[in-house]
Order: sequence, then structure tokens, then C-alpha cells
Amino acid sequence: MRFAELATTPLLPADYLDLVNPLRSGADLRGRIEAVVPETRDAATIVIRPGADWQPHRPGQYVRIGIDVDGVRMWRAYSITSDLGRTDGCFTVTVKAIPDGKVSNHLVRRAQPGTIVQLDQATGEFCLPEQRPAKALFVTAGSGITPVMGILRNHPELTDVVLVHSAPTADDVVFGADLRQLAADGRIRLVEQHTDTAGMLDAAAIAELVPDLAERSTWACGPIGMLEALEEHWNAAGIADRLYTERFRAKVLVTGEGGTVTFTKNGTSLEADGATPILDAAEDAGVLMPSGCRMGICFGCVLPLREGAVRDLRNGEVTTAAPGDGVLIQTCISAAAGACDIDH
Ligand SMILES: Cc1cc2nc3c(=O)[nH]c(=O)nc-3n(C[C@H](O)[C@H](O)[C@H](O)COP(=O)(O)OP(=O)(O)OC[C@H]3O[C@@H](n4cnc5c(N)ncnc54)[C@H](O)[C@@H]3O)c2cc1C
Ligand code: FES
Repeated sequence: MRFAELATTPLLPADYLDLVNPLRSGADLRGRIEAVVPETRDAATIVIRPGADWQPHRPGQYVRIGIDVDGVRMWRAYSITSDLGRTDGCFTVTVKAIPDGKVSNHLVRRAQPGTIVQLDQATGEFCLPEQRPAKALFVTAGSGITPVMGILRNHPELTDVVLVHSAPTADDVVFGADLRQLAADGRIRLVEQHTDTAGMLDAAAIAELVPDLAERSTWACGPIGMLEALEEHWNAAGIADRLYTERFRAKVLVTGEGGTVTFTKNGTSLEADGATPILDAAEDAGVLMPSGCRMGICFGCVLPLREGAVRDLRNGEVTTAAPGDGVLIQTCISAAAGACDIDH
């Protein structure tokens, strides 16, 4: 090995092995995009062959994917939508391109088979319990169908399932054909709400559509407003413990003045407003940042604040650091609250 190291300097032998086989056991966990399959006009399923060290996921979990977009490595979370029984060793995620979304548009419209992406092991708690519910309700909207599709594909033992799904039109329903087939086969009762013509469903309307709602364990995934309305309704009905929600983004509650953010090791300084997470502002300026869920739950974005002040966008709490303090902050939910120096 020492001889090999001398021969390959300045790279390590492992770097050459990675070039030959980036998915090998022992390498950083990566995946190769095998196919990009369109689902709707703005959503696609990405088929990924994971590296040898990939561990099977639990249906409903998500995976963090790191991909280079215009030369900048970006990490985003995507729910796994595939059947665990696939024989080709691949898994899938299904991505909906959002307006101005950097990674989602790249994956849906530009990603090519053969692209190598970084991966983390699957994680998340939006899964069925060991003791399967006798009656289940899923409430989803837009791309919020993805973890639920992962669950439905892998849990045929669920016999009494209602799925209430909202999308602007019938053609915008991600997995529309699959869901309608599940309904035709009697596996689920499917309620499609096409919001362009029929408007949004509120919690009371869902309760009317599903009269035995209180008897059902409910999993919901969709826009923040929808999830909050459901939480309120389930709380008021005294059945909050039967509702499980999955959020795709954090809710920004409090903003304030911004400031100059300096990344001391990297040497970059930028002006950030008081509403933009430092993580987003840094990536926009081309700074390679550690990140994870981007919504304050995984701590994958934590960096030391050497000096200055940041505001937690979820509750307005200001964290300050005197020179040398190195207070740890989550950059995905913290905005500048004045000048700040970050050790990165
Ligand atoms: C646990 C988890 C699972 C997820 N699963 C999926 C999935 O299966 N399929 C899927 O398509 N997405 C999923 N997401 C969302 C995904 O991680 C990205 O947030 C999304 O693709 C947008 O990234 P972007 O780089 O395109 O947008 P960015 O460039 O980061 O943002 C562009 C603009 O859109 C806003 N924005 C950011 N995220 C969202 C969002 N989710 N909805 C609406 N506006 C947003 C930003 O504030 C900004 O204004 C999941 C997120 C989490 C936390
Ligand atoms: S990226 Fe997960 S907590 Fe910040």
C-alpha cells in the first residue's frame, strides 16, 4: 500500500479506485443515475443505483442526495418511492420541479443517466409502525404523495386505506395512473381533488369525505398550511396522537435586519438579508456548505459562529457569539442579525 501511495502521489490509491468504481464498498456512499423517467409535466422519477454500502430503507423514509449544479455541490432530501422488492438493486426518488428551484429543476430537466451523486443512508420516521393500523388515511398534496407512494408500494397488507390527494389538475397528479390502478384493484379508496377547478380541501371537508376519520391512523404530507390546518383539526378532535406529518420545508416565522456574513476559512464575504437562511445565501455565493434536511431537524448544517449574531427564523431567537466563542449554529434556519463571522 505504501508503494502504491508513493506511485499515486499526490492522489491516494483509493482516489484511483473511486475513479474506476465509484460505487465500491468502502468508498464514500454514492449512487449513479440510471434513468430519469417523466411522471408529469414538472415531475420525474430518478432511478439511482446506490453504492455497495447502501442499506435498505424503511418505506416512507427519505435520502439526502448531493449533486453538482453549475459547479456547486448541493444537498437535498427526497423521499424514496420504489418497491423494496426491485431486483435490479436500484431505488427511486420522485422529484417535482418548483419555480426557481435549483436542484429540483436540475434533476427533472437536465440530469443525465450516468451522473454520479453523493448519498447518505436513508433516514426519517414517516413510516408505518410495526403494528399495522387496521384503518389508514393518507392526506397528500403535490409532491407530498412521494413518501406515501413508497408506503403503498411496499405495504400491500394494508387493507383499509383512504387516500385524499390534491393537485391542480388530473394530469398533475404524480403517479396518477398507478394510484388509479390501486383504486381500481380495490387496494385503496382514492379521492382526487383537482384544485384548479374544485378549489382546496380544508380539514372540515376531509372530515366529511372520510366519516370514520377518528378511527384511522393518518399520515399527511404537503404544503405547510395544509399540515397546520390538519394538526389544528386533529387536535381539536382530541385525536392528535393519530396524525403523523412530514414537512418538506421549515416555516419561516420571524425575520429581521441582515448583515455581512464572512466565512473565515473560505475567505468569502457576502451581504445577506434577514429573511434568507445563511445556508442559502452562502450557496448562492458559491460557498460549498455542509447541509442536510434544510429545515432544522438533522443538524447536518451546523457550523461555529466565531463572532456576531444570527436569528433563528422559526422563532426569532437571536444567538450571539463574542470573538472566539465558536457557538454552534444551524445555518439552514439561521439568518444574519448583523455582521457575523462563521468558521468555515
Ligand atoms: C424530508 C424531506 C423529503 C422530501 N421529499 C421530496 C420528494 O420526495 N420530492 C420532492 O420533489 N421534494 C422533496 N423534498 C423537498 C426537496 O428537498 C427540496 O426542498 C425541493 O426539491 C426544492 O429544492 P430546490 O433546490 O429545487 O429549491 P431551492 O433552490 O432550494 O429553492 C427555490 C425556491 O423555492 C422555495 N422552496 C424550497 N423548498 C421548497 C419546497 N419543498 N416547496 C416549495 N417551495 C420551496 C425556496 O424558499 C426558494 O424560494 C423533501 C424535503 C424534505 C425535508
Ligand atoms: S440542514 Fe438539517 S438542520 Fe440544517
